[in-house]
Amino acid sequence: MAGLIPQAFIDDLLHRTDIVEVIDKRVGLKKTGKNYSACCPFHQEKTPSFSVQPERQFYYCFGCGAGGNAIGFVMNFEQVEFPQAVESLAREAGVEVPREESRAATQKQSENVKLLEVLERASKFYQYQLRHHENKQAAVDYLKSRGVSGEIAKDFCLGYAPPGWDNLLSAIGTDSKEQKALLKAGMVIEKERTKSGDDEKLEESDVHYYDRFRHRIMFPIRDSRGRTIAFGGRVLGDDKPKYLNSPETAVFHKGSELYGLHEVKRLGDKFNRLLLVEGYMDVIALAQMEIRNAVATLGTATSARHLTRMFRQVQEVVFCFDGDEAGRTAAWRALESTLPHMEDGRQVKFLFLPEGTDPDTYVRQVGKEKFNSEVDNATALETFFFDKLSQNLDVRSIEGKARLSNLAKPLIRQLPRGVYGQLMLDRLSEILGVNSESLDRLLEAVPALPERYTDSPPQHAPPPFYPNHRGRYPDSGVVKLSTYRKPASLKAIELLLRNPEIALSITTDLEPLRSAEDESRKLLLALIEMVKNDPNTETYTLLGYCYGTNLGSQLTQVLQSERITPQEGVEEEFHHILDNILSDIVKKLELLQLRDELKSRVSAAKDRN
Ligand code: UTP
Ligand code: MN
Repeated sequence: MAGLIPQAFIDDLLHRTDIVEVIDKRVGLKKTGKNYSACCPFHQEKTPSFSVQPERQFYYCFGCGAGGNAIGFVMNFEQVEFPQAVESLAREAGVEVPREESRAATQKQSENVKLLEVLERASKFYQYQLRHHENKQAAVDYLKSRGVSGEIAKDFCLGYAPPGWDNLLSAIGTDSKEQKALLKAGMVIEKERTKSGDDEKLEESDVHYYDRFRHRIMFPIRDSRGRTIAFGGRVLGDDKPKYLNSPETAVFHKGSELYGLHEVKRLGDKFNRLLLVEGYMDVIALAQMEIRNAVATLGTATSARHLTRMFRQVQEVVFCFDGDEAGRTAAWRALESTLPHMEDGRQVKFLFLPEGTDPDTYVRQVGKEKFNSEVDNATALETFFFDKLSQNLDVRSIEGKARLSNLAKPLIRQLPRGVYGQLMLDRLSEILGVNSESLDRLLEAVPALPERYTDSPPQHAPPPFYPNHRGRYPDSGVVKLSTYRKPASLKAIELLLRNPEIALSITTDLEPLRSAEDESRKLLLALIEMVKNDPNTETYTLLGYCYGTNLGSQLTQVLQSERITPQEGVEEEFHHILDNILSDIVKKLELLQLRDELKSRVSAAKDRN
């Protein structure tokens, strides 16, 4: 693992680097007076508003607000993280990046290597037992009874943990170092020691362990690189607990692993769709039926990590949970976790199985062909979404419409900006029978959600200093989704931080800002007032204030960049944004008023009836 990059090296690298060269090489700059300019690489434009200042080693785009030093530019341009950007610049400067190996990190690293090693040996041990243990027939018979062939067992490295308390322990835990590793890998359990006074100073060799997995079919869980990181063990009969899993360890994080993903990846890039199922045996049974693109969560809900991993592999995910109440609940929860990941081009579907079946039993019942065709025709996310939300509602009635829109809005807002989000909005307005423009206005006007959905960027958005980072805020928004506006007030804050004096030129009435509930708008007002009270307030004072607020961490980028002198463009832009914010607040207030009026008129009408 690479260590930390020493700060002194970064400072030195920035001194050696000329930002003009760095950017010119990538974008092509034109000299304009003291500075250089180009069409901004971070948003679409026809006339150049992107400027590089050699004196301050700083770039800034008046169009989209992107700005920073050379490292920031490379991060933004090449879409890489900080260390990679530093590597990149160091290469160009012909120097090597030194690393501070922190001792703790190195030690942890070698500990993990040891855990992986004993886990691999354990996997080999269990596989061997399935073929050679005197009791192996019970295990083999069980697998046969479940329709698992020797070939599939081999593919998935299935094994057998024989009965007894110390099979694995005596095979692998030959000395105290190996035993410790087995313990840390979750493969053995420490016996409880009796607490008598003399026991306090037990020698290492006196500590005793026993095997965690006994008389179970063993399913090794492998990470996407194929390294065994944990196990699931199933009883051969109907005893409880049915499955025993490895505990969380340094190398196993249950909530983000997908059983079977390595096996899918090993087959190459031939799939454009993954099936997400609930159980180990579902993955195995589907594989047995030549459906080789299934992965399972390990008894946990579908997490963001799961989704990221799947979408790294394919563009389409079909959720295929058990045909029972738990499975249907899991499906809805999966839908909720999926919304923020629904970038354009991605597809999510749901296959609802008949009551009482799971993918394992169902595919064996109906066969590969039918199963596959049902997957092809699985329910689209948007259909499940509106069906589920409209359940028990009469969407033709006013009340039903209102209720549906209240249920749908906060969920739709979680979709990333794009065609899909627009499609969902269109669908909603179709059902509600209002045109999408007024729906847009309603979505914007009703403060139904915490601030992060309204004025500040969505949860996983990049810091505001890189508004076009990873293309989340394309300026040339073909699709209009006013709920996903650029974080205007954060941008105003940035400008103000760099040029505190622009606050002094504000002549408009700031009164509406006082009623703003949004955190970034409140912060903006506070900063403006600080400068108005003391015209000599410096950037650093303002930043000191910002860090005390919840928004502080989002503004750290500003500190890394140097201050650029106020220019007409900046001041103009600041006023423009401020005016927009103010009129937006006024508009919302009016809309809210209108809504209240409507409400009281409706209830008055009801009273009359
Ligand atoms: P299921 O009970 O649906 O698993 O639990 P399954 O694969 O269909 O089991 P079979 O067909 O009876 O063998 C789904 C998943 O939940 C976790 C396991 O990961 C399992 O695969 N689970 C279930 C446990 O961790 N412990 C349990 O006792 C049961
Ligand atoms: Mn099952």
